[in-house]
Parts: sequence; structure tokens; C-alpha cells
Amino acid sequence: MEQRSIFLVGPMGAGKTTLGKRLAKALRREFYDSDYVIEERTGVDIPYIFEKEGETGFRKREVAVIDELTQLPELIVATGGGAVTQEENRRNLINRGIVVYLETPVELQMARTARCDNRPLLAVDDRQQKLAELYEYRHPLYQEVADITVLTGQESAAALCKRILREVEAL
Ligand code: S3P
Repeated sequence: MEQRSIFLVGPMGAGKTTLGKRLAKALRREFYDSDYVIEERTGVDIPYIFEKEGETGFRKREVAVIDELTQLPELIVATGGGAVTQEENRRNLINRGIVVYLETPVELQMARTARCDNRPLLAVDDRQQKLAELYEYRHPLYQEVADITVLTGQESAAALCKRILREVEAL
């Protein structure tokens, strides 16, 4: 059985947390969500960090947390949608585990982020336009770091989890 940690990357609304928890259960591993770790450490939520420190401040915290998490053995880690924008994160993800990209059409991201107001980058008038811009810029970066790419929205979370496990085993 594969021993390396598994890192989930992909945009907001890809289902990284949901799938990460399922994978962790199936593999009896610990699960971490980098956003959640940042919130736990700071004691405040992500919108508050963006408000006080801007995106730059948030990214610094994210780089530090991802550096730590990627050094631990046999974890399942869900990363924030923008983690791949930082070169240091890309390097750490590539070198320290198996990276799974949850590729997600913008329409699906729209539906899945509709009722959440905890994502500062989506606090804009035209969410669809914003998600499309982010997709354009980030899709190649997700591809660059990924060992495995799966398309989400085609099947249930349970089926997708099984597919990822098969692909991990086949590496
Ligand atoms: C962000 C995605 C969020 C969170 C922050 C910034 C992004 O994580 O890290 O709001 O830049 O795409 P999720 O992808 O878990 O929503």
C-alpha cells in the first residue's frame, strides 16, 4: 500500500474537504484541511485574516502551514484553492507526496459555493466571472503539481473516492 501523504488541490467548491475526509476514513489516515489549521492557529476566520492582512498575509500563513503539513507522514491534506499560486507550495506538494487535482467545471463551483460567504475572493458582484478568471489562471498550476487528475461532478463522492484510491494504487 502507498505510504506517501495524499494532497488534494483544486478550486473552491471542488469538494476537497468532503473527499479528503472520505479518503482518510478509507485509508485509516488522519485528515487535515489547511484552511482549518490556519483558522485554528489564529483563532479567527479566513475572511477576518483577509480583512486585516490582505491576501498577502493569508498566503504567508498558508505557506507556513502547508510546509508543516507536507512534512508529516501518511496524511490526507486538503489545501486551499489558491495554494498552488505560491511557488514554494507547488514545490512542497510535488516533492512530498501524491497530488490529486479535483478538476471542477465553473458551473459546478458556482452551485457549490452559492450559499457560503466565508470565501473573501468570492465577495464580488460577478462570482461566475471571478471563478472563470481564477480557473484560467490556476488550472495550469493545478495540472503542473498533479500526479492524478479526476473530474468531479460526474459521479457520487463515494464513487469518486474509490476511483482516486484505484488511481493512487496504480501509480
Ligand atoms: C481560496 C480558497 C479558499 C481559502 C481562501 C482562498 C482561493 O479555500 O483558502 O478563501 O484563493 O481560492 P477553499 O478552496 O477550501 O474554499
